[in-house]
Amino acid sequence: MFGLVSGFIDWYFAKTEVNILVLGLDNAGKTTFLEQTKLLHKGGGEGNSVHVPLDSILPTVGLNLGRVQTMGCDVTIWDLGGQQALRSIWDKYFADAHCIVFMVDSTDTERFAEAATTLRKVLAHAGARGVPALVLANKQDMPMASALAPMEALFEMDRVRELGRAAHLMPLCARDGAGVNEALAWALDTVRSSSQKSS
Ligand code: GTP
Ligand code: MG
Repeated sequence: MFGLVSGFIDWYFAKTEVNILVLGLDNAGKTTFLEQTKLLHKGGGEGNSVHVPLDSILPTVGLNLGRVQTMGCDVTIWDLGGQQALRSIWDKYFADAHCIVFMVDSTDTERFAEAATTLRKVLAHAGARGVPALVLANKQDMPMASALAPMEALFEMDRVRELGRAAHLMPLCARDGAGVNEALAWALDTVRSSSQKSS
């Protein structure tokens, strides 16, 4: 009897485990987003590396990992390096991803086409089928940042949704944290509602 009751208590209070995979071109702000998330959810969790000051983040060679507890979820964030030569390992992480965050530098309009092609390739990969996609238009603090409407069009957000995937584009300023919690809330709500539908 005790086993049954304690099993129910464990089940009732168990946190949903959510893996968020953060991809995007180099210099988009992925690691800044990870570190800002760890800062906003201080304490983090087991496996968190020591917090890196936001102004001393170096380009990622390999990956960074962060764990936070928020909104009833144990969230693991995988931040992969975005340089061209590192993108070939991204697909190894698709199978465990509950949500793909694709970070875009909104000021780097010259590389929008490269970013859009890279996102299209990620979403076309069989391993990423059906995984919710959140595109973050980062660096919105900068005066030359693109508005969201042209980015929606360029990243073909309507088409991505028409193909049956939950997808959203949101503004972000990873450096000061504006939009970080909204992005996490969309990702966690979407993962939770899609897992309820499939169970
Ligand atoms: P890789 O590791 O090479 O893939 O790059 P990354 O996507 O992890 O970018 P990173 O977080 O290292 O940030 C690149 C640069 O953009 C750094 O100089 C950051 O300070 C800057 N940056 C990140 N987010 C913002 C932001 O919201 N606003 C501004 N103005 N700069 C930002
Ligand atoms: Mg990085």
